[in-house]
Formats: sequence, structure tokens, C-alpha cells
Amino acid sequence: MYSVEIKTKEKLTDVSPDLYGLFFEDINRAGDGGLYAELIRNRAFDDGVIPEGCKYDPQSKVIISPTGWSSSFDCYEQEGIAGWEAYNGAEMQLTDKDTLNANRRRALKVNFRGGKICNSGFMGIPVQCGESYRFYMFAKSENPVKITVSISSGSGGKYSEHSFEVSGDYKKYQCEFISIKTDNNARLVLFSEADETVTFGFVSLFPKGTFMGRENGLRRSLAERLIALKPAFLRFPGGCIVEGFSKETAFRFKDTIGPVWERKPHWLLWSYMTTNGLGFHEYLQFCEDAGIDAMYVFNCGMTCQGRCPDYFDEKLIEEFYEDTVQAILYAIYPENTEWGKKRAENGHPEPFRVLKYIEIGNENWGGEYFKRYEYFYEKLKKQFPQFIYIATDHTENAGLPTEFVDEHFYSAPIFFAANSKMYDKLNGVKIYCGEYASTIGCKAGTLYGALGEAAFLTGIERNQDKVRMTSYAPLFKNVDYVSWEPDMIVFNNHADYVIPSYYMLKMFAENRGDYVCRHNVISESTPRSESGYFCDEDGNITHGNKFSGNFKNNAVHIRFWDRGTAGEEQNHFDWIAENGKSRVVHYNGWSCETICGEIPCNILPRNSMEITAEKDYFKIILNGEILHEHTLEPIPNMFGVCTVDSKKNEIITKLVNFSEKEISVKISCDRETENDAEMTVLTAGSYDARNSFENPEAVSPYNVEVKDGNNLSLLPRSINVIRQKMK
Ligand code: AHR
Repeated sequence: MYSVEIKTKEKLTDVSPDLYGLFFEDINRAGDGGLYAELIRNRAFDDGVIPEGCKYDPQSKVIISPTGWSSSFDCYEQEGIAGWEAYNGAEMQLTDKDTLNANRRRALKVNFRGGKICNSGFMGIPVQCGESYRFYMFAKSENPVKITVSISSGSGGKYSEHSFEVSGDYKKYQCEFISIKTDNNARLVLFSEADETVTFGFVSLFPKGTFMGRENGLRRSLAERLIALKPAFLRFPGGCIVEGFSKETAFRFKDTIGPVWERKPHWLLWSYMTTNGLGFHEYLQFCEDAGIDAMYVFNCGMTCQGRCPDYFDEKLIEEFYEDTVQAILYAIYPENTEWGKKRAENGHPEPFRVLKYIEIGNENWGGEYFKRYEYFYEKLKKQFPQFIYIATDHTENAGLPTEFVDEHFYSAPIFFAANSKMYDKLNGVKIYCGEYASTIGCKAGTLYGALGEAAFLTGIERNQDKVRMTSYAPLFKNVDYVSWEPDMIVFNNHADYVIPSYYMLKMFAENRGDYVCRHNVISESTPRSESGYFCDEDGNITHGNKFSGNFKNNAVHIRFWDRGTAGEEQNHFDWIAENGKSRVVHYNGWSCETICGEIPCNILPRNSMEITAEKDYFKIILNGEILHEHTLEPIPNMFGVCTVDSKKNEIITKLVNFSEKEISVKISCDRETENDAEMTVLTAGSYDARNSFENPEAVSPYNVEVKDGNNLSLLPRSINVIRQKMK
């Protein structure tokens, strides 16, 4: 039986206007060559520079941080210059002398002798017939040299060209190109007949048609994808990149403002260098252009705790505190102040009026975090009481003032479905669900992933007085440079498509209403059917439904229903007994769910134990007595939430059919309603259905006119938003 009973006259809570926001992090080359519209790869020749304090291992092509964390590094300059190639006798070479300015670590010395150098961008430079492109370079030459710069095809056909006479010290040479052809695989070519050495300090090519036509702006199509989600805010710049690969590479606001050729580059722990062209100023500018709030995340004095952490000393913490204060002053102070003046020099005399949230750290936790949180919170709140501060752990449990806690979930769709009631019992602290996504089994961005997330979001919408904000993560993936999947918007150098989660979020964000009303969703359920092996502390694996043995020590940690294999995300249930206590948890991706809470238990060496685990049931027996016994709750086939749009006098019902069967659902309401209703549906023929460049709309929403809004039919595997008028 499936039904929804709606009580529009009983308001549960107002909707949170900020519920759906965006989280942008430069991951998968989401910045340069992605949202940041630069077309030249390695424009400042920094790509091969080994980050300060790190070592390079040429054998495995990795760099190792001072604390021992390693990351692939495939652009070491002795093996070529990333993005650049020389042809027809031209010789090029990097130099660390005579660079454009103190923040430039390399310059490119070229002797053309009738040859050319080319930059092929981020897997080809895309140009459109009739479109304009802004080009500039900083170059120097002792003697005057004529250099011809062109946008050309891979085989040399020219789409637009311009000649410069380069002479003397570094100068900026610029022009505008209009392409006479469309080509997604063009090159920027620099050619000269001269037998002279020319030094290039910086080379840039930008489409003129950026989002809002801004110089140093955003790729229009990608920015428009963001706007179409009707977000309330943008969280930036990360993510782990805020924490850094090392303390030297932690995000600092000051490196990301000012003329782009003077900005320091920044090694991202997603294994590439950013130019920082997309910096603090640009993020704020985007928020202003989009009419949304800004949420700035800063490093609170440590690198990523999951990656050989480095805990900064007091002096360095103070530096990061200063950097944060200056970032805020840059954003909000008037033009006649030191930081307001800098903002004005960068083209924005008026304060940015978008900054609303400050997040203290990213994904930091525990004692080391609490100390730092307290330090930053106390000082910042005093100086800037107008902002809303966000913690990344439950700082309220440490007795600290807590305005919001940012929680992150990367897990399997079934985890999200099983936890749709997670926030029903929450009391007290407000939650920002700042990162979440169905990851396990959904790397390609599948319908199943979106179904799990949608089920979870119905629970969040029901509790939006407590969970006030959310943002899916990550936002972007350049298919040619992947470090994390799935991602909501997938692009290459010229095209993009979105995964089903994007469409689901668009449907949810476009249909909000103004209050959540009481509703009762009745659904049949499907029993869980778990499987996997047992794995003891020594890594020994046992197949079957039973595991037994004797303890060696007075603690034990055994996994059951373990689906993990090396290199994949974890998915196992763990029985953990230690220090006189026992519990069972479920590790699913990056999430950990408590299945059986702690109970007292004393284990002695040679005690016996037995675990039975089959389908939805497990039992743990210690010395012949049941210690834990549990049946997993079945997963509802249907999830739902109801809100009311008072202005339009409509009931908005969101229903997720998580099952493979069509569902007939009866809707009843405490008010008379029109018979017909409008329904938006997102579904496809299989859980694994996904979009692609070839078939970008394979899983996309469509509208249906429903004749009888009180008797709905939900397609298998579907996300549905129903709007019905009240009389
Ligand atoms: O979204 C990808 C990463 O996941 C983020 O950088 C980090 O905050 C989380 O660990």
C-alpha cells in the first residue's frame, strides 16, 4: 500500500531559503581550462615547478610532501614543458632567471630561427567562427624581433593572426583575434624568422564571450549551468585544496588577487597546479553576478588530517588568521581603506555585498581542530559579528559556541535511502550538509545515485528547520583530467553535459514552496540483502554466513559483509570490541553509521566468538551468549515530502520511487484540490542509466499533465515533483 496524507493546515516549518547551494572546488581541473575560461595551458610556465618542501621521485613520477604524503606529478619540466611544443627548428627552454616578476618561477626562452612554438590548451583550443578572443603576452628581447601570433588548426591553417615587434624589457603585447573557423582542436602558434632569443613571461588567450562578458571571466556555458540550479550560495574555494598538500601549498587568499600575471601559482592536492586566475575576487564577482551569497572556507592551521597531517605552529596559525582577516576586509571594507583600495584597483570599488558565511577549516575534526576553531571563532566573531560561522565538526560537543556544523557524506545510494530519517531526531545545532554524493557503484553519475540522494533530500526537506543548507560535491569534471568521480557537470574543452543528480537537484530547487506541512508517507519496503566476506584483523578472509574463533587479545575488530577490495571505497560492517565496550558500525564510503550502539563487554584471550550474518540479519555470540543481534531495517520503496506554495495556492509533493516496480499512490489532503496536477518526472530504463556527450539528455526530466492528482502512478526508479492547485 502506498499513500500520502497531506495536512496543509498544519505547518511543520518554513522552508529554508538557503537550502540549495553550490560548492566549488578546483578538482578534476574544474578551474583553469574549465569554469575559468583561460584557453592556454601552463600560461606562466609554472606547471613543472616542484612545490616548496616536496621531493620528486622520477621513478614513480610522484612528489612527496614534507610529512610523507605522495601525489602523482606528471609534468616534471625535464621531461618536456607542459602544454608547449616547438617545431621546425625552434628551440625553447625554461629558465628560472629573468622571470616576469617575483612570483613567476619560470620564463620561456625561445630561439625561433624560422620555426614556431605551439600551445594546444587543455586538449585543444576551442574556437568558434566569428567569435573574438583576447590575446596578450609578456615578452622581452634584446634586439627587435617580429613575432607572428596566430590561432591555427593542428595542420597549420590560420584562423586569425597578428604580428608584434618585441623589443627591450618585458612589455605587454596584446590583440584581439576573430576566428574565421570553428575548430575544437586549434592551437596558439608563435612564429618568427629571427635568429634571436625572445623570453616569454606569460601568455594568455581568453574568449571575449565569457559569462557576463567579464575579462578574466568564466566559461559562459558552465557558469550558466550553475545559475540554472537557482542556488542560494556558493561555498569556495574548497575542499581539501584549502588544507593543502603541504603547509606551503595551503590556500592563501593573498595569492589569488591582483593582476593574474602577478599571482603565485598553487599546487593543488588533486595533483595539478592552478594559476589562481580564478581567485577570491573572481569568486565574489561570480556571487555578485549570480545574486547569491558567498561562503568562504579558510585554512584554520592544519593540512588534511586524512593525508599525513601537518599541524601548524602558533606563528603560522597567526599568519593564516591574518590572511583570513585581510580576505574579509578585501571583500567588505570601503574603498578608502588599505584592503578596500586593493579591491578597487582590481576593478571593484564598491564593497562586495555577498559575503555571508565563513567556514573555519575544511573537514577537520577532533582535539586539534577544536583548539583552532576556538581560537579563530572567538577572534573573528568579535571583529566580524555579522557573519555566520560554520564548524566542520560538532564543536558544540566540546562546549564551544557553534552556529552551524558542516557534515559530509560520500556513500552508496542505499546508504542515503537508509538514512533519509537521519535528521528527524536531531536537536539543537544547525546543519549545513556541505558535501554529499552517491559514490559507491555510481562513478559514472547514474540514475541510481540520484535516486539515493533524492531519498535523502526528502528527509532533509522535512527537517529544513535544522538542516538549513546543502551542496552536492564535486561540481565539475574535465573528462580529460579526472581525479574524483562522480561530478555533477562533466565537460571537455568545448562541450558539457550533466549527470542525473543535477536534474534531480534542479527539480528540487525549483519547487520549494514556503512551508513544509505535516504529511504522512506510507510505503511498502524491500528487505535489505547484504552480502560479502568476513575479514579479521590480520586480513584473513572467510566466505560464507558464519565466522567463529577464539580471541588472541582482549580486543577485536572483525569486518563482515565486507565488499571492499584494495583501491576501492570501503563498504563493510565492523564489530569493534575494545576497552570493555562493544559496538557495530557500517562503513560505507566515507560515512560511518552506528548499527548497534556501545554496550559493556569484557573480552579475554581465548574467549570464543561466533558471527552469523545473512541477508538483513546478524548475530554476534560471545562465549555462547548473544552480544549483539540485529535485523537491518528494510528500505522503503517510496520516499516523500510535501510543502505548500501559498502564493500559487499549490501543494508541492516530491515522491521518489526507489524500487524497480511501478507504484500506485493515493494522495489525500485536508483541503479540496483541483483534479488535475502537473508532474515533472526523472526516470530511465535502468538504475545504471546515465548521460554522456553523445546522449546528454538520456536521463532528463519531462513534464506530464496528470488527470487525477489524487491517484498517481510513479514509474519504476523515478523522481517525481507534483504540483497540485488547492481550491
Ligand atoms: O569533494 C571532494 C573532496 O571531498 C573535498 O575536497 C573534501 O572536502 C572532501 O573530502
